[in-house]
Amino acid sequence: MLVLGSGGREDALAWKLRQSPLADHLYLAPGNGTERNGIEKLDIKLSDFNAICSAIQEKDIDVVVIGPEQPLVDGLVDFLKQKKELEGLHIIGPSAKGAMLEGSKDFAKEFMQKYGIPTAKYLTVTSENIAQGEAFLASLSAPYVLKADGLAAGKGVLILSSLEEALKELREMLTGKFGNAGNKVVIEQYLSGIECSCFVLTDGKGYMLLPYAKDYKRIGDGDKGLNTGGMGAVSPVPFLSSELKKRIEEQVVCPTIEGLNREGLDYKGFVFIGLMICEGKDPYVIEYNCRMGDPETEVVMPRIGEDLLPHLIKLKDQTLSSGSLEEIAEYATTVVMTSGGYPEEYKTGYEIAGIESAENGDGVVVFHAGTKGADGKLLSSGGRVLACTGIAPTLQKALDKSYRATSLISFTDKYNRSDIGKDLIPWT
Ligand code: AMP
Ligand code: GLY
Repeated sequence: MLVLGSGGREDALAWKLRQSPLADHLYLAPGNGTERNGIEKLDIKLSDFNAICSAIQEKDIDVVVIGPEQPLVDGLVDFLKQKKELEGLHIIGPSAKGAMLEGSKDFAKEFMQKYGIPTAKYLTVTSENIAQGEAFLASLSAPYVLKADGLAAGKGVLILSSLEEALKELREMLTGKFGNAGNKVVIEQYLSGIECSCFVLTDGKGYMLLPYAKDYKRIGDGDKGLNTGGMGAVSPVPFLSSELKKRIEEQVVCPTIEGLNREGLDYKGFVFIGLMICEGKDPYVIEYNCRMGDPETEVVMPRIGEDLLPHLIKLKDQTLSSGSLEEIAEYATTVVMTSGGYPEEYKTGYEIAGIESAENGDGVVVFHAGTKGADGKLLSSGGRVLACTGIAPTLQKALDKSYRATSLISFTDKYNRSDIGKDLIPWT
């Protein structure tokens, strides 16, 4: 098997898949500073599709799991599929067309509308229909939501408090503020509620639900400050009653899979559905992603109570049944340690110490995100450096484990939020 990617998500996927008795040899490319028994790293750039193809041949790989969105949106699956020498290769990840669920907000909204999937009212605007866009904005009430159509590294969504600002931003976006990603802008009705993430494994016909999770996107405590890739996550989500989960499955998951099937989209992989639960009971889709979430994977994988690999294998012949993966009854929490300054400018190359003592004891796994090995040392090499996952019977105990780990790990300018999961304690 080969897992492609270099973040905490891929470390967690490889960590879980390594536990399968069916995975006799596991490669991770390029990975990061992580070193785990039985996982061999390959030095390949994800943008170098030819190098990926050669490695698959050389290492006689049967199954490839593609972690991040960029190579999926860029057509890595289609590229590998048309290689005669890779015939029989099983790839976990959607085709470029399927990945448009994440790669184009306009495509995703049209898909949702066509299949009756609850989502915010919207209008897609290009330079051709700016006046219509302005009128649509004026018909909504504050706050205003503008989204660049294409991938914009998590920065393409603007939420603006006045109509004046929204009109100004709309013009700026359409004239290149986000490069090509903003050639089209989706204007959306603002939804208020509470967010959570739903993860689905699908072969385009059947689906398996993975554990739900909630992530914390802002840099500062109390959800203040700039958006980040994610500063922490919790699973399960204690406010999701079984009734609410049933509604999500019926109103969102089933029509999504049916849509993939009816559209004939080649989709064998994960769908990450960002949800807003409105009025405590109505699920709305905020966005689709064509991959697992990060850092959500760092709490979802530890909570899967069975071997994941047999389900991945079933995608090949589209024999996945529909249902839910077994979940362990415990809570998993993760607290992301970042380089000071992130998500703006930050320094890297600082030595990291204390991971071994942090992992000493039951129920703690430190996943690597922005780390690298150099001369026998472990150095920070990115904005998000580590994700400290704690697993315990209660949310509070899991958080205690995560936070104990963060306190035992040191590197210059380390930073983490101190309130991950706090808002959820009253629900437990
Ligand atoms: P997205 O990249 O589409 O997930 O948007 C990023 C974040 O913006 C989401 O996680 C929400 O917090 C917020 N957001 C996006 N769309 C809406 C909306 N229609 N109403 C309220 N908040 C939204
Ligand atoms: N944590 C959000 C994401 O992976 O997009």
